[in-house]
Order: sequence, then C-alpha cells, then structure tokens
Amino acid sequence: LTAEAYPKVHRNPDYKVLNDEDLKFFHSILDDDEIIEANGDDLVTYNQDWMNKYRGQSNLVLLPKSTEKVSKIMKYCNEHKLAVVPQGGNTDLVGASVPVFDEIILSLRQMNKVREFDPVSGAFKCDAGVVMRDAHQFLSDNDHIFPLDLPSRNACQVGGVVSTNAGGLNLLRYGSLHGNVLGLEVVLPNGEIISNIDALRKDNTGYDLKQLFIGAEGTIGVITGVSILAAPKPKALNNTFIGLESFDIVQDLFVKAKKELSEILSAFEFMDNGSIKCTIEYLKDEPFLLKKQHPFYVLIETSGSNQQHDQEKLSAFIKSALEEKLISESHMAADIDEYNKIWTWRKSVPPACNSYGGMYKYDMSLKLKDLYSVSDAVTKRLNAAGLIGDAPKPIVASVGYGHVGDGNIHLNIAVREFTKQIEDLLEPFVYEYIQSKKGSISAEHGIGFHKHGHLHYSRSEIEIRFMKEIKKHYDPNAILNPYKYV
Ligand code: MLT
Ligand code: ZN
Repeated sequence: LTAEAYPKVHRNPDYKVLNDEDLKFFHSILDDDEIIEANGDDLVTYNQDWMNKYRGQSNLVLLPKSTEKVSKIMKYCNEHKLAVVPQGGNTDLVGASVPVFDEIILSLRQMNKVREFDPVSGAFKCDAGVVMRDAHQFLSDNDHIFPLDLPSRNACQVGGVVSTNAGGLNLLRYGSLHGNVLGLEVVLPNGEIISNIDALRKDNTGYDLKQLFIGAEGTIGVITGVSILAAPKPKALNNTFIGLESFDIVQDLFVKAKKELSEILSAFEFMDNGSIKCTIEYLKDEPFLLKKQHPFYVLIETSGSNQQHDQEKLSAFIKSALEEKLISESHMAADIDEYNKIWTWRKSVPPACNSYGGMYKYDMSLKLKDLYSVSDAVTKRLNAAGLIGDAPKPIVASVGYGHVGDGNIHLNIAVREFTKQIEDLLEPFVYEYIQSKKGSISAEHGIGFHKHGHLHYSRSEIEIRFMKEIKKHYDPNAILNPYKYV
C-alpha cells in the first residue's frame, strides 16, 4: 500500500515541507554519515515496513550518533513544524515506525553502544539503537540475559521494544517492560532531555514519568537510552514441543504446568495447525518435530539452575500428561541444538505467514476461555466468502498462535495480495468481536497507524481524553509520529 491507498488520511498542511534551508541546517549539525537523502528508491527500507503493508514517502533519514544531536534535531523540527517519525529496527507490526507521508525519519540505529553494566544489581544501560541480539550477547557474556526475547531479535532495537512495550516470549517469567525498565533517557519534542537513566530499583519520589514513554510509540518523546534489569542467566534450559487435540486441552495443560512446573516454567506458547502448516512450507528441508500433525501445539520452556532436576521435572510432567490423555505426542529437546530447533518452530511462524506476499495481523488480549474463539470466528467468515485456498484465491491461511501465559493471541491472515474485500471482512468485525468479549485490540504490538482511531473498542471516552491531553502536553505542535496512536 502507498499513501494514495490511505483514503481517510490527508497530509496535514500545517507541517512544513522540507526545503534546502532545512537540509543546510541538518548538514551543519550532523556528519555526512548521519544523513541519507532520497535518491530514487534509496530510502525504501526506511519508508516501508517488513510486511509490505505500509509505505511512506520520506525524503530524508537522519541517523544521529548522540543524544545531543537528537536534541538539536528535535528542537529545530519543533520550531519549524517539521514532522518526525522515530525509527528503531523497523520490525514494527502496526505501521508505527514508518512515515505516512513525508515525515523525516529519525533512525536510532547509529546510537548503538552499551553504556554500563552492573553485575551485582543486574542494571544494564545502553543506547536505544542497540540491536536486541547484541544486548543478549553482551549480557550472556556477563552471565545474564536480557529480560525479553522476540522472533525479531536480530533486527529490533532496545529503544524500539521499550517504545512499543513489546511483550515477547518470556513475559510469563520475567514480567513486562513496565516492571523491568529502571530508567530512560528521552528527548522531548522541544529538544529538552529528560533522563532518569541512573534510576534506582526503588524510587517513590513523585510520578513515575518514565512509564508514560513505555508503549507511547514515539508519540511524546524519542527514547535515546534505556536502563533495564537483566536477569541472571539460567544454568538449565529445557523445552518440549507438544501436539494436542483442542484449545480446551491447551488450557488444562497450562493449569497443570503452572502447578507442576511452577518456579521453573518460563514459557507456554501455543500454535494452531494452520500456523505450523505455513511453517512446514517455510522451513522446507527441516524435518517436523512430531510424528503427525495435530489441531494444536504447545511449546513449554523451563529455566532453572539444575539441569538434571529440571529435566526430570519436565519429563515427569509430560509422562503424567500422556497418562491423563491430555496430550497426544511430545518431543523434548535432548540438547541445546534441539532446544534451539524447537524454538525455531515457534519463532518462524510470523515470517512463514509473511512469506506468501504479506499478512493482515491482529494482536489481542482475551480471557483464556475466549482466546482462540476469535481465530475460529475470523476463519469461518473468510471461508464463507470463499477467499481461502490455493491460488488464485487471495488468502493462503488464517492462523492463530501466541502467548497462553499472557492471554495473548496473534491472528495472522497470510495473503498473496492485500484486497479491499478482505479488509472489509476483517474490520470492524475483529474489533467488535473483541469489544463484545471485553478484550483488548492490542495486547503487545501497539496502535500505530493500523489501529489509530480504534482505541474506543478497548478504552473509555475519559481514558482517551486523558491520552489526548497527555499528547498535547508533551507535543503541542504534534510533530512526533503523526497520524497514529491517539
Ligand atoms: C510473536 O509473538 O511472534 C511476536 O509478537 C511477533 C509476531 O506475532 O509477529
Ligand atoms: Zn507476540
């Protein structure tokens, strides 16, 4: 899709159109390798999201290497009413990190240094542009782990995941970023730098301002530095991949896992058979982990300090689940290679769904008893319209998977092409369904451009009014990440 395909949104004429004088200013404060100007299609990787769904038309990417430079850029843009989109690894899923029109892209990718690590408290401080994989590697070398992991870990950046309040694969164990982030350094739209990056674990002196920037998707400030609590590296990691016959059993198994694996349980992820069918095609030569296919699959991970103890505990759990006929089949990792392989089957679901051309994507919180029902309802609706099947039908599959431990389902509609007919079948149906079940239309992927204007399905009028007031307070000229969020 291009901006012409956004019929309901128009470029706000209050924003200045970039001119030579602006470029002269940016060149006066930045080095040559901190500026990329449009040259044919050069900026496409910055203008377009990885799902090929959103594409802006920015002519300028700024890649400052310091917080002070970010501050100078923001101050100038604010004074001249130039709209700005902050961008991390651009792995976003709701069109939050790409421009809609000609907004300047402010990439944090050249602010990529680890600042400090305290192995006693576990406080880890880094620039916002550190890639999550590199944060994991640094901490692993120091016997710790970053308290969040994602399928996009090789590209997403620490500042980006904090800005979007990403949840990830181990939230069940390590909690959300609202608990793990110790402090932030943020550049406000007027260029002021607000920092509590040296924050302590406990600090009750007034409002906890940093919380507002966690999940604000760069609409009220640009996160330039993060301090986060790293967890000690588990000595023992085990996982198992399980086939089972219904989503009711998935829930029974979750209750059993909490009871019997208790303190070592660190992930409980589910996938339906549609997710795995796409992944089998995507991973091509990789042999499937189980003897046959099942309606549902669960990946359970344990993390602890004693390999033998944890392995015995997980084996006993699987044995008893088989005896109780809760599960049909399971494959437990015998070593670290198999452990990684099992995770590959879960982490490959998003790229597998995207590999046919693109995908429509929804990310919802629901009561566990209702969690899978939204996927059933949507698949039924798309099937009734005759849209799912082999080419030339536009939809390859409509699949559900996600984080049972967090009550979070992802719905991916893998498509060969984006069409208005599919869109009209999906929306507002999906949102109305979630509202009727008192769920949330965004569990972890955020609002961005996709869900802009849809907050009322999950938030009250007064909540939305407060959000708008906050936006106005921090960003009175509305230059940060426009056309999105509130
Ligand atoms: C996941 O759980 O895999 C992530 O939220 C990313 C995604 O769904 O695409
Ligand atoms: Zn997720």
